[in-house]
Amino acid sequence: MLSTMEKPDAVVAVLRKEDRFLVIRRGPKVVAPGHWAPLSGRIEPGETEEAALVREVREEIGLEVTPTEKVWECSTDDGDYRLHWWTARFEPNEFELDPDEVAETRWVTAAEFLELEPTFVGDRDFFLRVLPALEAEETMRSLGLDDQELAAWKAASLSQEAFVDWLTDRMARRPSGSRARQVYGSEEMHDFARRAILDALALGPGDRLLELGCGGGLLLRDAAATGARTTGLDHSPDMVEVAREVAPQAEVVLGEAERLPFADREFTAAAMSIVFLFFEDPVAVLRECRRVLRPGSRIAVYTTAPELRGTPAAPEPLASRGHFYTDEELVELATEAGLHDVHVENEGGGQLLTASA
Ligand SMILES: C[S@@+](CC[C@H](N)C(=O)[O-])C[C@H]1O[C@@H](n2cnc3c(N)ncnc32)[C@H](O)[C@@H]1O
Repeated sequence: MLSTMEKPDAVVAVLRKEDRFLVIRRGPKVVAPGHWAPLSGRIEPGETEEAALVREVREEIGLEVTPTEKVWECSTDDGDYRLHWWTARFEPNEFELDPDEVAETRWVTAAEFLELEPTFVGDRDFFLRVLPALEAEETMRSLGLDDQELAAWKAASLSQEAFVDWLTDRMARRPSGSRARQVYGSEEMHDFARRAILDALALGPGDRLLELGCGGGLLLRDAAATGARTTGLDHSPDMVEVAREVAPQAEVVLGEAERLPFADREFTAAAMSIVFLFFEDPVAVLRECRRVLRPGSRIAVYTTAPELRGTPAAPEPLASRGHFYTDEELVELATEAGLHDVHVENEGGGQLLTASA
């Protein structure tokens, strides 16, 4: 172990092809031969981290790389070196291995790397802990989320396995936080669904509308303008608060669509806008809905067809937590729930299910 306070520095190359990373079995002339590890090498005096990365990768496997971002720092297992981890871009060329330094190369997933032996503790820590955190950040950025949202994820102190559920809840399934309050309260939010539902329901002063998953309350506000009495239900406390501000004429209740806190036959119309895909038991929700509607009442549900999965309308990884139904499947679900006059209109993957109770 080196005793000086200032440790010498080395770089580590994180080279990625889709979900695989380049690792090597270390050659006979380097420290810890036979260990599996990402490419790495010492920084020469006067050299920048980026220049060292370019030189080391070129020397060890003959590949030209362009450093992109420094993603982590740690010490080597023996404590002798400070390691600077960099991602880099590269052209997919044939490797020319330096056999003294590199015995073998492999493209592995993080899980496959963790199966290899022997490996260094620091490298395992990177694949186990650092990489998932980096990927979570990348996902959040790609969805347009800002530093405040990233801070909220960190503050939640959940395991990486909980990330997709946390993100789905935060953004759509149970929206919370200042971003969600702003997004769901803004005029353009799901305006296409709102218009389609209101056109289909054709509400008037004699109506009592129930909206399930009312979010920011824009549909309730527009429905109230027709003279109808309006009630919204949502299981997100933040959304209930926003909806009460946006639609002060409406009654807005915190609750679950699966267990409606209303008496039988209280309403004459029901609406659901971009919420149906989150129900684990959609037939149970439709039945509950039917229970609180007077016979003959109208239902309009706007949801997203399977062909839009993975598009900006239903982006991954959120889409992985949603349920997408074909038009025929939607008809079956509504019929199973005991609804009548079931009809589905599909415009470019936006589905409007209408039925009567
Ligand atoms: C994607 S947002 C849509 C909000 C609004 N309807 C719109 O179109 O902008 C889904 C909303 O449904 C609510 N929600 C999801 N599942 C629910 C459930 N089981 N019971 C009550 N509300 C639910 C969420 O909290 C969220 O506000």
